[in-house]
Amino acid sequence: MGAFSGLLPWWRANGRDLPWRRTRDPWAVLVSELMLQQTQVPRVVSRWQPFLDQFPTAGACAAAPVGDVVRAWAGLGYNRRALNLHRCAVAVVERHAGVLPDDLGALLALPGIGPYTARAILVFAHGRDIGLVDTNAGRFLARAVAGRALAGSEAQGVADAHVPPGLAWEWGQAVFDLGALVCTRRAPACDRCPIAPDCTWAAAGWAAPDPVAGSAGISTPQSTFAGSDRQGRGRLVSALRGGPVAMRDVASATGWPDDPARAERIATALVAEGLVVSDGAVLLLP
Ligand code: ADE
Repeated sequence: MGAFSGLLPWWRANGRDLPWRRTRDPWAVLVSELMLQQTQVPRVVSRWQPFLDQFPTAGACAAAPVGDVVRAWAGLGYNRRALNLHRCAVAVVERHAGVLPDDLGALLALPGIGPYTARAILVFAHGRDIGLVDTNAGRFLARAVAGRALAGSEAQGVADAHVPPGLAWEWGQAVFDLGALVCTRRAPACDRCPIAPDCTWAAAGWAAPDPVAGSAGISTPQSTFAGSDRQGRGRLVSALRGGPVAMRDVASATGWPDDPARAERIATALVAEGLVVSDGAVLLLP
Protein backbone atom coordinates (compact mmCIF):
# COMPACT_ATOMS: atom_id res chain seq x y z
CA MET A 1 0.00 0.00 0.00
CA GLY A 2 1.44 3.35 -1.01
CA ALA A 3 1.25 6.50 1.03
CA PHE A 4 -2.21 8.06 1.30
CA SER A 5 -3.78 4.70 0.47
CA GLY A 6 -6.74 5.55 2.69
CA LEU A 7 -7.86 8.36 0.43
CA LEU A 8 -9.61 6.57 -2.44
CA PRO A 9 -11.55 4.09 -0.25
CA TRP A 10 -12.71 7.02 1.90
CA TRP A 11 -13.72 8.98 -1.19
CA ARG A 12 -15.65 6.08 -2.72
CA ALA A 13 -17.76 5.98 0.46
CA ASN A 14 -17.91 9.70 1.29
CA GLY A 15 -17.29 11.70 -1.88
CA ARG A 16 -19.77 14.35 -2.94
CA ASP A 17 -22.23 13.55 -5.71
CA LEU A 18 -21.75 16.64 -7.86
CA PRO A 19 -23.43 16.94 -11.27
CA TRP A 20 -20.27 17.68 -13.26
CA ARG A 21 -18.82 14.42 -12.02
CA ARG A 22 -21.26 12.59 -14.28
CA THR A 23 -19.82 13.94 -17.51
CA ARG A 24 -16.53 13.52 -19.33
CA ASP A 25 -17.42 16.08 -21.98
CA PRO A 26 -14.51 18.56 -22.17
CA TRP A 27 -16.78 21.57 -22.76
CA ALA A 28 -19.01 20.69 -19.81
CA VAL A 29 -15.91 20.18 -17.66
CA LEU A 30 -14.51 23.54 -18.73
CA VAL A 31 -17.77 25.28 -17.84
CA SER A 32 -17.78 23.66 -14.39
CA GLU A 33 -14.17 24.55 -13.73
CA LEU A 34 -14.61 28.19 -14.72
CA MET A 35 -17.72 28.46 -12.55
CA LEU A 36 -15.96 26.81 -9.60
CA GLN A 37 -12.98 29.14 -9.80
CA GLN A 38 -14.60 31.90 -7.79
CA THR A 39 -18.04 30.60 -6.85
CA GLN A 40 -19.05 28.20 -4.09
CA VAL A 41 -20.04 24.64 -4.99
CA PRO A 42 -23.77 24.88 -3.97
CA ARG A 43 -24.32 27.87 -6.22
CA VAL A 44 -22.53 26.23 -9.15
CA VAL A 45 -24.63 23.10 -8.64
CA SER A 46 -27.78 25.11 -9.43
CA ARG A 47 -26.33 27.05 -12.38
CA TRP A 48 -24.19 24.53 -14.28
CA GLN A 49 -26.85 22.37 -15.99
CA PRO A 50 -29.09 25.30 -17.04
CA PHE A 51 -26.04 26.98 -18.59
CA LEU A 52 -25.20 23.81 -20.53
CA ASP A 53 -28.79 23.39 -21.65
CA GLN A 54 -28.48 26.81 -23.27
CA PHE A 55 -24.89 26.36 -24.52
CA PRO A 56 -24.35 22.62 -24.91
CA THR A 57 -21.20 23.00 -27.02
CA ALA A 58 -18.40 25.48 -27.62
CA GLY A 59 -19.97 26.11 -31.02
CA ALA A 60 -23.33 27.03 -29.51
CA CYS A 61 -21.63 29.41 -27.08
CA ALA A 62 -19.46 30.97 -29.80
CA ALA A 63 -22.48 31.55 -32.04
CA ALA A 64 -24.41 33.39 -29.33
CA PRO A 65 -24.02 37.10 -28.58
CA VAL A 66 -21.77 37.74 -25.58
CA GLY A 67 -24.75 39.30 -23.81
CA ASP A 68 -26.60 35.97 -23.83
CA VAL A 69 -23.65 34.30 -22.12
CA VAL A 70 -23.43 37.10 -19.53
CA ARG A 71 -27.17 36.73 -18.90
CA ALA A 72 -26.80 32.98 -18.39
CA TRP A 73 -24.01 33.72 -15.90
CA ALA A 74 -26.50 35.43 -13.55
CA GLY A 75 -26.01 34.49 -9.91
CA LEU A 76 -22.39 33.37 -10.34
CA GLY A 77 -20.58 36.69 -9.91
CA TYR A 78 -17.28 37.75 -11.48
CA ASN A 79 -18.98 38.25 -14.84
CA ARG A 80 -15.70 38.65 -16.68
CA ARG A 81 -15.52 34.86 -16.65
CA ALA A 82 -18.56 34.76 -18.94
CA LEU A 83 -16.80 37.01 -21.41
CA ASN A 84 -13.63 34.90 -21.19
CA LEU A 85 -15.64 31.73 -21.73
CA HIS A 86 -17.22 33.21 -24.84
CA ARG A 87 -13.79 34.25 -26.18
CA CYS A 88 -12.50 30.77 -25.47
CA ALA A 89 -15.45 29.22 -27.32
CA VAL A 90 -14.82 31.43 -30.35
CA ALA A 91 -11.15 30.39 -30.40
CA VAL A 92 -12.09 26.70 -30.06
CA VAL A 93 -14.32 27.03 -33.12
CA GLU A 94 -11.71 28.94 -35.10
CA ARG A 95 -8.69 26.84 -34.20
CA HIS A 96 -10.06 23.41 -33.34
CA ALA A 97 -13.30 23.02 -35.30
CA GLY A 98 -15.33 23.40 -32.10
CA VAL A 99 -13.65 20.59 -30.16
CA LEU A 100 -11.53 21.46 -27.11
CA PRO A 101 -8.03 20.08 -27.69
CA ASP A 102 -6.65 17.36 -25.40
CA ASP A 103 -3.15 18.77 -25.43
CA LEU A 104 -1.74 20.94 -22.63
CA GLY A 105 0.00 23.43 -24.91
CA ALA A 106 -3.03 23.91 -27.16
CA LEU A 107 -5.32 24.36 -24.14
CA LEU A 108 -2.99 26.92 -22.55
CA ALA A 109 -2.98 28.88 -25.80
CA LEU A 110 -6.74 29.43 -25.56
CA PRO A 111 -8.03 32.65 -23.99
CA GLY A 112 -9.27 32.27 -20.43
CA ILE A 113 -7.57 28.92 -19.81
CA GLY A 114 -4.71 28.96 -17.30
CA PRO A 115 -2.42 26.19 -16.01
CA TYR A 116 -4.94 24.86 -13.50
CA THR A 117 -7.94 24.84 -15.84
CA ALA A 118 -5.98 23.24 -18.69
CA ARG A 119 -4.90 20.39 -16.44
CA ALA A 120 -8.38 20.02 -14.93
CA ILE A 121 -9.74 19.41 -18.45
CA LEU A 122 -7.03 16.82 -19.14
CA VAL A 123 -7.79 15.02 -15.87
CA PHE A 124 -11.58 15.28 -15.63
CA ALA A 125 -12.41 14.86 -19.34
CA HIS A 126 -9.55 12.63 -20.50
CA GLY A 127 -8.35 10.87 -17.35
CA ARG A 128 -4.74 11.88 -17.90
CA ASP A 129 -2.36 11.11 -15.04
CA ILE A 130 -1.71 14.68 -13.95
CA GLY A 131 -1.98 16.27 -10.51
CA LEU A 132 -4.05 19.38 -9.81
CA VAL A 133 -3.05 22.37 -7.72
CA ASP A 134 -5.98 24.49 -6.59
CA THR A 135 -6.86 25.85 -3.18
CA ASN A 136 -8.35 22.57 -1.89
CA ALA A 137 -5.62 20.37 -3.33
CA GLY A 138 -3.05 22.91 -2.14
CA ARG A 139 -3.91 22.11 1.48
CA PHE A 140 -3.39 18.39 0.91
CA LEU A 141 -0.08 19.03 -0.82
CA ALA A 142 1.27 21.46 1.78
CA ARG A 143 0.07 19.70 4.93
CA ALA A 144 -0.13 16.00 4.20
CA VAL A 145 2.53 15.59 1.53
CA ALA A 146 5.20 18.21 2.16
CA GLY A 147 4.59 19.35 5.71
CA ARG A 148 5.66 22.83 4.63
CA ALA A 149 4.60 25.60 2.30
CA LEU A 150 5.33 24.73 -1.32
CA ALA A 151 6.71 27.16 -3.85
CA GLY A 152 4.73 27.61 -7.05
CA SER A 153 7.60 26.12 -9.02
CA GLU A 154 7.54 22.80 -7.11
CA ALA A 155 3.85 22.23 -6.34
CA GLN A 156 2.89 20.83 -9.76
CA GLY A 157 5.69 18.27 -9.64
CA VAL A 158 4.69 17.20 -6.14
CA ALA A 159 1.04 16.88 -7.22
CA ASP A 160 1.96 14.87 -10.32
CA ALA A 161 4.16 12.49 -8.32
CA HIS A 162 1.28 11.37 -6.10
CA VAL A 163 -1.32 10.51 -8.74
CA PRO A 164 -1.90 6.73 -8.71
CA PRO A 165 -1.39 5.61 -12.33
CA GLY A 166 -4.67 5.25 -14.20
CA LEU A 167 -6.69 6.78 -11.36
CA ALA A 168 -6.14 10.50 -11.90
CA TRP A 169 -9.84 11.30 -12.31
CA GLU A 170 -10.84 9.72 -8.99
CA TRP A 171 -7.70 10.98 -7.30
CA GLY A 172 -8.36 14.57 -8.34
CA GLN A 173 -11.95 14.49 -7.11
CA ALA A 174 -10.89 12.75 -3.89
CA VAL A 175 -8.21 15.33 -3.12
CA PHE A 176 -10.79 18.12 -3.67
CA ASP A 177 -13.28 16.43 -1.37
CA LEU A 178 -10.66 15.85 1.28
CA GLY A 179 -9.86 19.55 1.16
CA ALA A 180 -13.50 20.61 1.20
CA LEU A 181 -14.82 18.17 3.81
CA VAL A 182 -11.89 17.29 6.09
CA CYS A 183 -8.70 19.24 5.49
CA THR A 184 -10.35 22.64 5.68
CA ARG A 185 -8.51 25.91 5.96
CA ARG A 186 -9.26 26.87 9.55
CA ALA A 187 -10.42 23.73 11.32
CA PRO A 188 -9.03 20.56 9.71
CA ALA A 189 -10.82 17.50 11.09
CA CYS A 190 -7.68 15.46 11.64
CA ASP A 191 -9.51 13.08 14.01
CA ARG A 192 -11.59 11.75 11.12
CA CYS A 193 -9.05 12.19 8.33
CA PRO A 194 -8.58 9.07 6.18
CA ILE A 195 -4.91 9.83 5.56
CA ALA A 196 -3.94 11.03 9.05
CA PRO A 197 -1.48 8.11 9.47
CA ASP A 198 0.46 9.36 6.42
CA CYS A 199 0.20 13.11 7.08
CA THR A 200 3.57 14.85 7.33
CA TRP A 201 2.16 17.79 9.28
CA ALA A 202 0.37 15.53 11.80
CA ALA A 203 3.60 13.52 12.25
CA ALA A 204 5.32 16.80 13.14
CA GLY A 205 2.73 17.44 15.83
CA TRP A 206 0.97 20.12 13.73
CA ALA A 207 3.95 22.40 14.22
CA ALA A 208 3.33 26.08 13.57
CA PRO A 209 3.06 27.67 11.13
CA ASP A 210 0.30 25.85 9.29
CA PRO A 211 1.98 24.71 6.03
CA VAL A 212 -0.85 26.15 3.94
CA ALA A 213 0.19 29.73 4.81
CA GLY A 214 1.65 31.14 1.62
CA SER A 215 1.73 27.74 -0.12
CA ALA A 216 1.16 27.24 -3.85
CA GLY A 217 -2.45 27.24 -5.02
CA ILE A 218 -3.86 28.59 -1.74
CA SER A 219 -6.20 31.45 -2.55
CA THR A 220 -6.14 34.62 -0.52
CA PRO A 221 -9.49 35.61 1.02
CA GLN A 222 -11.69 37.74 -1.24
CA SER A 223 -11.82 41.34 -0.12
CA THR A 224 -15.00 42.67 1.48
CA PHE A 225 -17.80 42.78 -1.08
CA ALA A 226 -20.12 45.34 0.52
CA GLY A 227 -19.24 48.81 -0.69
CA SER A 228 -16.61 47.51 -3.13
CA ASP A 229 -16.24 48.37 -6.81
CA ARG A 230 -17.03 44.72 -7.46
CA GLN A 231 -20.45 45.21 -5.88
CA GLY A 232 -21.17 48.24 -8.07
CA ARG A 233 -20.01 46.36 -11.18
CA GLY A 234 -22.22 43.43 -10.28
CA ARG A 235 -25.24 45.67 -9.77
CA LEU A 236 -24.74 47.41 -13.09
CA VAL A 237 -24.34 44.15 -15.01
CA SER A 238 -27.43 42.77 -13.24
CA ALA A 239 -29.41 45.82 -14.33
CA LEU A 240 -28.14 45.40 -17.90
CA ARG A 241 -29.37 41.80 -17.95
CA GLY A 242 -32.84 43.31 -17.82
CA GLY A 243 -32.19 45.66 -20.75
CA PRO A 244 -30.32 48.85 -21.70
CA VAL A 245 -29.61 51.44 -19.01
CA ALA A 246 -29.69 55.12 -19.91
CA MET A 247 -26.54 57.06 -19.07
CA ARG A 248 -28.43 59.20 -16.60
CA ASP A 249 -29.51 56.07 -14.71
CA VAL A 250 -26.07 54.48 -14.48
CA ALA A 251 -25.22 55.93 -11.07
CA SER A 252 -28.35 54.57 -9.45
CA ALA A 253 -27.92 51.21 -11.23
CA THR A 254 -24.52 50.82 -9.54
CA GLY A 255 -26.12 51.59 -6.19
CA TRP A 256 -24.23 54.88 -5.86
CA PRO A 257 -26.77 57.53 -6.89
CA ASP A 258 -24.70 60.17 -5.10
CA ASP A 259 -21.37 59.21 -6.61
CA PRO A 260 -21.73 59.54 -10.39
CA ALA A 261 -17.95 59.82 -10.83
CA ARG A 262 -17.40 56.43 -9.27
CA ALA A 263 -20.25 54.93 -11.31
CA GLU A 264 -18.82 56.36 -14.50
CA ARG A 265 -15.39 54.94 -13.72
CA ILE A 266 -16.91 51.48 -13.26
CA ALA A 267 -18.95 51.78 -16.45
CA THR A 268 -15.91 52.90 -18.43
CA ALA A 269 -13.93 49.93 -17.17
CA LEU A 270 -16.72 47.50 -18.13
CA VAL A 271 -16.84 48.99 -21.63
CA ALA A 272 -13.03 48.78 -21.98
CA GLU A 273 -13.15 45.11 -20.99
CA GLY A 274 -15.81 44.36 -23.59
CA LEU A 275 -18.41 43.24 -21.06
CA VAL A 276 -20.64 46.23 -21.79
CA VAL A 277 -21.12 48.46 -24.86
CA SER A 278 -22.15 52.09 -25.05
CA ASP A 279 -23.98 53.82 -27.88
CA GLY A 280 -23.55 57.22 -26.27
CA ALA A 281 -27.02 57.47 -24.74
CA VAL A 282 -27.35 54.01 -23.19
CA LEU A 283 -25.28 51.12 -21.93
CA LEU A 284 -26.15 47.59 -22.99
CA LEU A 285 -24.81 44.05 -23.05
CA PRO A 286 -22.99 43.19 -26.30
N1 ADE B 1 -13.32 22.69 -7.71
C1 ADE B 1 -12.78 22.65 -8.92
N2 ADE B 1 -13.09 21.51 -9.56
C2 ADE B 1 -13.88 20.81 -8.72
C3 ADE B 1 -14.54 19.57 -8.79
N3 ADE B 1 -14.46 18.83 -9.89
N4 ADE B 1 -15.25 19.18 -7.72
C4 ADE B 1 -15.33 19.97 -6.64
N5 ADE B 1 -14.74 21.13 -6.51
C5 ADE B 1 -14.02 21.56 -7.54
